[in-house]
Amino acid sequence: MIVLGIDTSCDDTGVGIASGGRVLANVVVPQTALHARFGGVVPEEASREHLGVIDDALDTALSHAGLEVRDIDAVGATYGPGLVGALLVGLSYAKSLAWGLDVPLVPVHHLEGHLAAAAAEPPFLALIASGGHTALFEVTSWSEIEELGHSRDDAAGEAFDKVARLLGLGYPGGAALSELAATGDDHGVRLPWPMQGNDSIEFSFSGLKTAVALLLQREPDADRAAVAATFERIAIGSLVEVTLRAAERTGMKRLVVAGGVAANRLLRSAFDDAGLDVSFPPPGLTTDNGAMIALAAGRRLTSVDARARLEGAFTIDAVPYQPLAGAPA
Ligand code: KG4
Ligand code: ZN
Repeated sequence: MIVLGIDTSCDDTGVGIASGGRVLANVVVPQTALHARFGGVVPEEASREHLGVIDDALDTALSHAGLEVRDIDAVGATYGPGLVGALLVGLSYAKSLAWGLDVPLVPVHHLEGHLAAAAAEPPFLALIASGGHTALFEVTSWSEIEELGHSRDDAAGEAFDKVARLLGLGYPGGAALSELAATGDDHGVRLPWPMQGNDSIEFSFSGLKTAVALLLQREPDADRAAVAATFERIAIGSLVEVTLRAAERTGMKRLVVAGGVAANRLLRSAFDDAGLDVSFPPPGLTTDNGAMIALAAGRRLTSVDARARLEGAFTIDAVPYQPLAGAPA
């Protein structure tokens, strides 16, 4: 079964194709340059850009996979969460395509897409750390996904982006901050550890971010590499600390780490000695993309409890699911 996946939840137009759990194409058209001059994503600009490039992205994905549009057996699209206008573009496009081809439309929760990218089978503990979300999930089965806790304030990626901005590294700055951090002393400045003395399954990054802002105000000539390295050590250390606490409490031995921050070099090696079986998505599938949506949609369609999954743990009211002719019952 050839499944097309579309993700337009934020500022990347993702169109991917998967078949039987294998990725055949993964086209991501980033809008980084468009939003960089504003220092963040401008929703209206993002929607217009998705609309402008989505047709070409589909053509490119089909040609990478060596397929024609009529070869598509199902269309998956992110229905939320994300920027409403941006989501609407991808979801409407997917609906029209599914309707025109008379194939099922599978609405996919964005975070389920991130989980699908890691190619692990439940049960597992999942840490999703991206620009919009930082949360831990206990995934008992694909139809039983329970959130254990999330960030009280900023998402981890958001904190990386804000600190990167303070350091003049542009937007989004997570990867650039990490590169700069690799050259600095990770104990070079004093920054607070988040949620000290709190043993809940929750994250918090805004205090850390504010501490960096205050430090740079106080000491404009502070060693930027040391600031980046210290911030990265603490931000990633806090993610790891809470994740290990959740692993201990749930007794889960398998861990999936997904979302854009899963690309982080410290995070990728942080669990090496934790006695956990850890899966990261392959590099091209960590940040937002359409292939992960195609993988999640394909799994829903081929599962015996497809209906349960369609009505599963991830639900959102904003975009009601309208089954089309041929959609799964
Ligand atoms: O999952 P994603 O592509 O988009 C959202 O759904 O938000 O995640 C993007 C986020 C951005 O905040 C970006 O700065 C961060 O992931 N990121 C990183 C790294 N690469 C991307 N953060 C830390 N280290 C990295 N190497
Ligand atoms: Zn994402």
